[in-house]
Amino acid sequence: MTATTQRAVLIRAYGGADAAEIAQIARPTAAPGQVLVRVRAAGVNGLDWKVREGFVREAFPLRLPAVLGIELAGVVEEVGAGASRFRIGDRVMGPIGGLGAYADFVAVDEANLVRTPPDLDDVHAAAIPVAAVAAWQSLHHAGPIAAGQRILIHGAAGGLGGYAVQYARQAGAEVFATASTAHVDYVRSLGAVHVIDYLNERFESVAEGIDLVLDYVGGEVLDRSWQVLAKNGAIVGTTSPDILARTPSGRRGLWFMNKPDAALLERLAAEVAQGTLVSTVGEAVGFDDIPAAIERNRTAPRIGKVVADFSR
Ligand SMILES: NC(=O)c1ccc[n+]([C@@H]2O[C@H](COP(=O)([O-])OP(=O)(O)OC[C@H]3O[C@@H](n4cnc5c(N)ncnc54)[C@H](OP(=O)(O)O)[C@@H]3O)[C@@H](O)[C@H]2O)c1
Repeated sequence: MTATTQRAVLIRAYGGADAAEIAQIARPTAAPGQVLVRVRAAGVNGLDWKVREGFVREAFPLRLPAVLGIELAGVVEEVGAGASRFRIGDRVMGPIGGLGAYADFVAVDEANLVRTPPDLDDVHAAAIPVAAVAAWQSLHHAGPIAAGQRILIHGAAGGLGGYAVQYARQAGAEVFATASTAHVDYVRSLGAVHVIDYLNERFESVAEGIDLVLDYVGGEVLDRSWQVLAKNGAIVGTTSPDILARTPSGRRGLWFMNKPDAALLERLAAEVAQGTLVSTVGEAVGFDDIPAAIERNRTAPRIGKVVADFSR
């Protein structure tokens, strides 16, 4: 690698597992209002394979080739004109407000970033920006949460689910959650009272009168969830806008899209650093393994988040 080029994980065309490749690209500089971040770790997300396959090409039209990756933790290398929040050498974390985090250097609008708490390592920091914020925002998307409400969380062992279980519990909700057999104890440890092993039991036989379903799985899991809802209950879906077409008449089904919120991210990162919010990195991979990790994220669930550690 020379000073003017850098490693990146990119797609040249939409496609399957082989469409994502490691290549050398030009190293960017910080535009006005931006900082250039030397990336130390980047979170792997479900959006990566959805972008790779072209599933979201209408929502996110891309000029190809495009570098993948949406969140990072690293160190400020350069400060652009007019940017004033950070100095060279500051540790920062955040969503990048678009694509391109799987590269050694990334230019990011400084408004998206927060300082990484001193007690938080880069790998754990990179696990937080998208999932912890999306879980918080999706939990509150249908309205305020009241103590005693019954909340069902599908995909509770995953990146969003682990945070959502804890937030719902902290709000005083009675938490129902679905997980595969191997992940039941983990989800219970986060505060879910009723953990349904969906490989051996149908959630409809346990959950009823649910005020809010957080659907982090989609498809037939969504379709089966209307019957467990209380009369005025709502389902918030994160996997696909098709929830709008799949909502029966007279029911409340809401499509959720996360928005960058630096103040919220700062608070949640501080909670993780203080140990009051559990953030689980289920798998850490090296840079060269990112294309395979994007595919495994689609096919082989694990607990918590997958993070690429650029130092490996
Ligand atoms: N709209 C937005 O703004 C937004 C933002 C972030 C993420 N997302 C999307 O939200 C979804 C969840 O994201 P994530 O990062 O949490 O994904 P993830 O880490 O891959 O977690 C998904 C979890 O679902 C579980 N699962 C799979 N099949 C299941 C089933 N039939 N019933 C219950 N659980 C099941 C898996 O765990 P088990 O092994 O226990 O099954 C897995 O851990 C993805 O589709 C992602 O793309 C959307």
